[in-house]
Amino acid sequence: MAATDPRWRPPADAWTRRDALRNGFGSFVALAGLGSLPRQAGSNTVTSAAVRARARSPFTPFRRDLPLPATLVPTRRTRHADIYERTVTEGLTEILPGFQTPIYGYDGVYPGATIRARSGRTVIVDQHNGLGFHTNVHLHGGHQPPRFDGHPMDLIDPGATFRYRYPNDQAGATLWYHDHAHGILHKTIYYGLAGLYLLEDDLERGLDLPRDEYEVPLLIQDRAFNRDGSLRYEENIDAGFLGDTILVNGAVAPRMRVKRRLYRLRLLNGSNARHYELRFGRGHRVHQIGGDGGLLERPITRRTLSLSAGERLDVLVDFSDFKPGTQVILRNIAGEGSTVAVMRFDVERGGGRDPARIPRRMAHFDPVPAPQAQRNWVLTFEPSARQWQINGKVWDATRVDCRPRLGTSELWQWINRSHMMHPMHIHGCQFRVVARSGSKLLRGDHGWKDIVRVDAGERVTVQPYITSHTGLYVFHCHMLEHSSIAGMMLQMEVTS
Ligand code: C2O
Ligand code: CU
Ligand code: CU
Repeated sequence: MAATDPRWRPPADAWTRRDALRNGFGSFVALAGLGSLPRQAGSNTVTSAAVRARARSPFTPFRRDLPLPATLVPTRRTRHADIYERTVTEGLTEILPGFQTPIYGYDGVYPGATIRARSGRTVIVDQHNGLGFHTNVHLHGGHQPPRFDGHPMDLIDPGATFRYRYPNDQAGATLWYHDHAHGILHKTIYYGLAGLYLLEDDLERGLDLPRDEYEVPLLIQDRAFNRDGSLRYEENIDAGFLGDTILVNGAVAPRMRVKRRLYRLRLLNGSNARHYELRFGRGHRVHQIGGDGGLLERPITRRTLSLSAGERLDVLVDFSDFKPGTQVILRNIAGEGSTVAVMRFDVERGGGRDPARIPRRMAHFDPVPAPQAQRNWVLTFEPSARQWQINGKVWDATRVDCRPRLGTSELWQWINRSHMMHPMHIHGCQFRVVARSGSKLLRGDHGWKDIVRVDAGERVTVQPYITSHTGLYVFHCHMLEHSSIAGMMLQMEVTS
């Protein structure tokens, strides 16, 4: 079938309102944007006068409470499996106060409900396609067999249902699910087709980590809007889509009241292309306990959290470090203007006795067998063809680009000869970051990962451990425009 489904269209035809497009909100956002606010926000506290002056703009930050995605409820449980049914369909949601925004959503909801799974217990999702074009579901970071992985050419027809089966045969981790229909996923994800999948294991259960209301998922995405409140998408295969408004869990730079206790924040950068450098207040110390592939061996103290497209971070923040009444702004120091403020934590009085604590030791990593093969992947931009290439090639579903063996590890070197950073992602396995040409390993390189940032001009070596299943898996840049329409995706066949 064709790479791009010709039946694709944006939700509720908002796209066809040309005038809305032409007089888009661009300037409205700039006006409502933060001006100098976040720059001084290192002071942790915002004097609200500046904010109040703009209080009527739907883009005013810290105006809405942080929404929490619902937890998806199984329609049935058996001894070994939780069974879910869901339909991907159009919906309307209030992202900007006072506006109804057309979206695509799992069960019509954006962001999608969170699936909570347990290691060793199967999850089955009967996924119905209620859209007029193809879709599929990829469980990002999951070790499912290829037929359940959401290969970009393995699609669910409109009106059809496909049963995904996730063995969850891996360590607990912050995973996520999203559409992977080739040629359109950069738009379908943009219009809402993503959500969290939190996989928990016994190790994690045994630690006194914050839970329930003290464990908070933060799905960070940048967006832009038309004047009628609809989402505005502009295709850019070079930089990828970059919006001027930061949403967390589907709300514009929201606020959250926190007690003076330890919180576990599970961050996901679900943006198309934007990279974040996050700080709490002035750079308050937080404790990273996990990354893409699950818990680390021990917590790492961090002041700045780098999060490229598709990456996850699991961090503990101790809000008892702050005086009651403090407003701690989560800032993106890589942003400017309206893309600096991500959200705000308002520290309340009290907090009570806190049973949670920062663990000293967590996961135990078994040694990885010595690598059996070495591969180089050269990343370049080909301006005449407007293509992002890997070893001079672009995506071709009929070609297999490498054949690693199940149960082995390899050394893969990403050699970035282009002018920008690329977050490189491998399906069906996790890897360790082994070396960087330009620097020592970054703080965010520790533990098991499935996405690694490769800076312009840099060479980064990773060691994938191919432990899941045989068959076809893709690997690609997670800047969605790069892999969905500009070619930056290859595939491997894991052999036995
Ligand atoms: Cu989120 Cu192919 O990946
Ligand atoms: Cu993936
Ligand atoms: Cu890229």
